[in-house]
Amino acid sequence: MPHVLTAAELPVPELFHRAEIWRKRLTEQPMPPLQPKAALVALLFYEPSTRTRAAFEQAAVLLGYHPLVLTAEASSVAKGESLQDTVRTLNAQGIRAIVLRHPQAGAPWQAAQVSEAPILNAGDGAHEHPTQALLDLYTLWLHYGKPDPTARWLSGRKIAIVGDIRHSRVARSNLILMAQAGAEVWLCAPPTLQPDAPLPHAHHTHDADEALRDADVVMALRLQTERMQQGLLPNLDAYRRDYQIHAERLRLAKPDCVVMHPGPIQRGVEISDEVADSPRSLILTQVRNGVYARVAVLEWAMEAPKTPSAG
Ligand code: NCD
Repeated sequence: MPHVLTAAELPVPELFHRAEIWRKRLTEQPMPPLQPKAALVALLFYEPSTRTRAAFEQAAVLLGYHPLVLTAEASSVAKGESLQDTVRTLNAQGIRAIVLRHPQAGAPWQAAQVSEAPILNAGDGAHEHPTQALLDLYTLWLHYGKPDPTARWLSGRKIAIVGDIRHSRVARSNLILMAQAGAEVWLCAPPTLQPDAPLPHAHHTHDADEALRDADVVMALRLQTERMQQGLLPNLDAYRRDYQIHAERLRLAKPDCVVMHPGPIQRGVEISDEVADSPRSLILTQVRNGVYARVAVLEWAMEAPKTPSAG
């Protein structure tokens, strides 16, 4: 059963191939009318989401499934049902896949223990967000002209991820895929928003100038205030001054540097309006590619059983 739990197990070249087919299908040719299947794909969202949820919902529809969106407030979770019992319930109703977003790290693994249908991790706490990493990597792969995805095609590239690294599942999953593709990844955060222990294959710094100097890619992250203990970020003005990605600071990066952000963006906090809306910003391209990447992942996961190829 190909669950999609961690970025480390994604068969990246195969998923890029599928995403390309969908990108072309959706942008170059009109979609043929679908013969909807009776089956459902559940989107079990215990945390808010716009992009991820909308992309998975589209992915389900594009593959002919009905998306069933269940949020914590509107389901039996609000009545105290455990995650595993909710998963068993959905399985018993014949649901074909479960896309899960959960505030607790490791929740998708718990779900996978009891699920007969593939579990797709759509973000678990501050732990992982594999499909975000896939769409970010896919966005860079398209930007750099589709190099051989089985090679270390990001080798020689410096990528700076700046912001609330401590609470960022996006940073953790991206680090896995970017390092696999050969990039030099810098993680930059204020001292209170660094991870407890250094993450493997990354350079860590508190100094945004050091992270940005000669960077090819700069990714800004949202401050995850919903996950922060009191006092971790005492001063927002100091954060803006020291870490905001704005035009002046970006002069340190390579002249052809691109800027990314997983969204939702907080304009004027981690990124300036000017940079977010500039031609070097890939933010909306990431959103668009999120649909192709999610449909690729869902399609792959539902074509079980399959052995993941080396990614
Ligand atoms: C991210 C998430 O939820 O982890 N957003 C997303 O999926 N597009 C990042 C965030 O919430 O800041």
